[in-house]
Amino acid sequence: MVKDNDDEESRHFESVCASYRQYSNFATSQWTNHEYRLQELSESHRNLLPAGLRIDTPEYSKRYKDYKEAVIRNQFFLDCILRHAGQPHSQQQQQQLDGGYITDDSQKVDATTNTVTDDQMSKISSVLKSLVRDWSADGKIERDTAYEPIKTLIKKYLPLNSARTTIPKILVPGSGVGRLAFDLTSLGYSVQGNDFSLYMLLASDFILNNGGSICSHERPLSICPWLLESRNVHKTTDPLRTIQIPDVDPMIILASSSVDEMIMPDFSMAAGDFVSIYSNSSEAGQWDCVASCFFLDACPNIVETLQVIYNMLKPEGLLVNLGPLLYHWSGPPTRPDDNSMQEYRQRYDQLDDRYFTSIDLCYDDIKEILTNIGFQILEEYSGIECHYTADKLSMMNTNYQCVSFVAQKHSKK
Ligand SMILES: C[S@@+](CC[C@H](N)C(=O)[O-])C[C@H]1O[C@@H](n2cnc3c(N)ncnc32)[C@H](O)[C@@H]1O
Repeated sequence: MVKDNDDEESRHFESVCASYRQYSNFATSQWTNHEYRLQELSESHRNLLPAGLRIDTPEYSKRYKDYKEAVIRNQFFLDCILRHAGQPHSQQQQQQLDGGYITDDSQKVDATTNTVTDDQMSKISSVLKSLVRDWSADGKIERDTAYEPIKTLIKKYLPLNSARTTIPKILVPGSGVGRLAFDLTSLGYSVQGNDFSLYMLLASDFILNNGGSICSHERPLSICPWLLESRNVHKTTDPLRTIQIPDVDPMIILASSSVDEMIMPDFSMAAGDFVSIYSNSSEAGQWDCVASCFFLDACPNIVETLQVIYNMLKPEGLLVNLGPLLYHWSGPPTRPDDNSMQEYRQRYDQLDDRYFTSIDLCYDDIKEILTNIGFQILEEYSGIECHYTADKLSMMNTNYQCVSFVAQKHSKK
């Protein structure tokens, strides 16, 4: 049984690494698709296109060259992440496909793994955009609107004593690529980040632990996070623009924020599903604070998530939250001819089971559930305008009006 789980986990890990390696092939196939469509146009329509869209013109070649360079830039960054994780990168796979050989068995990759799903590629794109949100100067506005209110509330309700004799323990669930968890650590708290996405975890590990050897604030790497966006674009150059990663050197900041220079601040990442890890009895009553940002609605069962948070907190521990209620696992609509839940599920039998468990609760209902669990809301805000991995040059962006609250653990009535 344990072996099955291990096999499944290693298959999943390999498929995530394969998606990282396949970015360039996927992005190139997007260009090819675009080119097919141009070729399908009638000659009279083709003649109306700008030179940059007419194949065989120097302008078209220039566009292709610029696109290809951006693909290479992104693949290089993804390869750095793979290399840091000790995994074969895209060039090694290419060597195999070209009939080259790799002598070290551990470096061998499955050369037949040559296709990735759209879903996998959209996760790679999300990683690139999350890196902008968390680790670039361009992401500062998003961080200021989403992370600053959380940091301010934590400093207010959980102030550090100057001697740091007791350091509050904070968990950041759904920590993504890690900036909020890192920022709280650099303030002096003892912090654990948690995420179940290997896509995110590989990237956060790279940024937090490459120690400046591969990229640093002084020697950043460039990525083109919006390269695959073809809709709502103003100019051909918009998706090609580069963003520098990272904006700070995590190791240097952590070292300088330490009270005792011999002791690095306590910072860790826990990989896995939030409920599976923190519902463990060893976690009960261990935490001073849970700081959740754009996380609660990413869980399939928010009631269960809030209850796990309640149990893991110390008496009077705090849940500090900010986010929307988008409900990541919100299920597809039922149809009038669905005579039972079973029929409804059968229609969507290819969907992850979690889409059938989410209940899209409104904020008022969540507040009542918090009280029923044993929390008391100490402070709350609504209408906090936030973006999430937005492309500010795009014609389309989602503008969230988030809620934020501090809920304190009290004894159950
Ligand atoms: C919308 S993102 C928010 C990321 C980050 N907090 C931010 O504000 O940028 C939600 C994150 O929660 C993670 N996540 C969702 N469900 C999770 C679960 N059950 N356990 C751990 N992580 C989870 C996802 O992988 C993703 O990184």
